[in-house]
Amino acid sequence: MVAVRSSSSSSSHSRSHRSRFLSPSSISRYVFVLIGFSILVFFFSQSQISDVIVDKPLVAGEERPQEELADRLWDSSAGYGFQPCVKPTRKYEAPKIWNRYLTVRSNGGLNQMRTGISDMVAVARIMNATLVIPQLDKRSFWQDSSTFADIFDEAHFISALQGDVHIVRELPKELEAAPRARKHFSSWASVNYYVEVAQLWKDYQVIHVPKSDSRLGNNNLPIDIQRLRCRALYQALRFSPPIESLGKKLVERLRSSGHYIALHLRYEKDMLSFTGCTYGLNDSEAEELKIMRENTNHWKLKNINSTEQRAGGNCPLTPKEVGIFLRALGYPPSTWIYIAAGEIFGGDTYLSDLRSRFPNLVFKDTLTTKEELEKFASHATQAAALDYIISVESDVFIPSHTGNMARSVEGHRRFIGHRKTINPDRKRLVELFDKIDRGELEEGPKLSSLVTELHKHRQGAPRKRYGSLPGAKGKDRLRTEESFYENPLPECICHSKRH
Ligand SMILES: *[C@@H]1O[C@H](CO)[C@@H](O)[C@H](O)[C@H]1NC(C)=O
Ligand SMILES: *[C@@H]1O[C@H](CO)[C@@H](O)[C@H](O)[C@H]1NC(C)=O
Ligand SMILES: *[C@@H]1O[C@H](CO)[C@@H](O)[C@H](O)[C@H]1NC(C)=O
Repeated sequence: MVAVRSSSSSSSHSRSHRSRFLSPSSISRYVFVLIGFSILVFFFSQSQISDVIVDKPLVAGEERPQEELADRLWDSSAGYGFQPCVKPTRKYEAPKIWNRYLTVRSNGGLNQMRTGISDMVAVARIMNATLVIPQLDKRSFWQDSSTFADIFDEAHFISALQGDVHIVRELPKELEAAPRARKHFSSWASVNYYVEVAQLWKDYQVIHVPKSDSRLGNNNLPIDIQRLRCRALYQALRFSPPIESLGKKLVERLRSSGHYIALHLRYEKDMLSFTGCTYGLNDSEAEELKIMRENTNHWKLKNINSTEQRAGGNCPLTPKEVGIFLRALGYPPSTWIYIAAGEIFGGDTYLSDLRSRFPNLVFKDTLTTKEELEKFASHATQAAALDYIISVESDVFIPSHTGNMARSVEGHRRFIGHRKTINPDRKRLVELFDKIDRGELEEGPKLSSLVTELHKHRQGAPRKRYGSLPGAKGKDRLRTEESFYENPLPECICHSKRH
């Protein structure tokens, strides 16, 4: 029972969808949902869920419970009075055209590349370099032959950053054979570090950077550098026109059904193998994951105790756990859920546990025609870009695990108006799920109030970026800080004066 199975046009999609809403079974489902609403509202009336800074006062006699619940589930309070602020300060100067060049190979998946490229824009600015359009790593896990221009709008990238950094498509011919400094930049580096690296310009006209991820610190950088990172990521790094236009179409199709959740269901083979999470899987599946881990050289951890991983909150939620979680939060079974993910491990074997609670699951291939998806099918990075667009535009975004995609989307949603992002507290949830398994707790109002309470303050409301974990030292301190791109507040998100 999935949205639009390859309908050939979006109009036939909305027609077929609308007629489903009028069918007797939908009406009875709707009634069922209303009853569900009322029960939930009764239990929540004492502990109003709010992640909002300014609570809307309730006028006595005007309470409309269903609207209240719908508000809580879908409303993101229109930005909470914050807005993007990325303009440079007054002392910021236009870039000179420098005849020294930074060439970059951008590594990782789509989101690691996007944030890495934004860092490289800032690094080029700090080092007074002309940036050559980055090459994308084709050897990574993603095995994607896409070039920069396949994924991003190259002309826009260059022109949008005109006032910041000089960017060229290629190294000038006469420099192609010039000696290059090959430099692995230090992770989470400071401006001083790059001023020092700039000494290399004395001997070289070209510096090549083989890795772009996390090469700038999250904190303690000048405001103009931080804002440049935001301009690069949120304004300059637009997806290429074919991706943007299909992404937009898919968002419109989803919106024609009303609200939707984008669920980053990171229940994929590589993630389960990497984290060593085998909860709920049979022995041969667990073995398959173990073999993949052993054969992947750059995954250093080989022996992992799945039970401990899960108890520590380090496992992606299973499809079943996500289903229980969303029901407990109060989302009705009729909710449309877009699954932003690659291939779900075990396919329908595990997905059916989510589908039984939420039949309206939508995937890329059920939302598009064959022809539309064809161009993207063999390009994991481009398919991920579609997921990114749909996730940023969703009413609610829920990542089942942390990672670059989850962080990037959350940060982007904060930036454009603190759209609701619900971050599952996996450690505490697993304790509750285990109680259910042991028969000490049931799905229902009691679980609902526990889960709702746990997630009251995990819905993407405005707050300053977290610092490092207490007790962390040296590089670990930098490593454990909340990522700049996960929450660019305060540098790029400001309280608007009108509020
Ligand atoms: C870059 O250029 C500016 C102004 O031209 C200069 O003040 C600064 O020291 C230069 N930075 C580096 C790292 O060379
Ligand atoms: C393990 O699960 C998979 C997928 O559900 C199934 O195909 C396979 O037969 C199972 N293997 C065993 C040994 O139970
Ligand atoms: C994994 O850890 C759990 C809890 O600490 C322990 O009971 C179990 O024996 C461990 N399993 C293995 C295979 O070591």
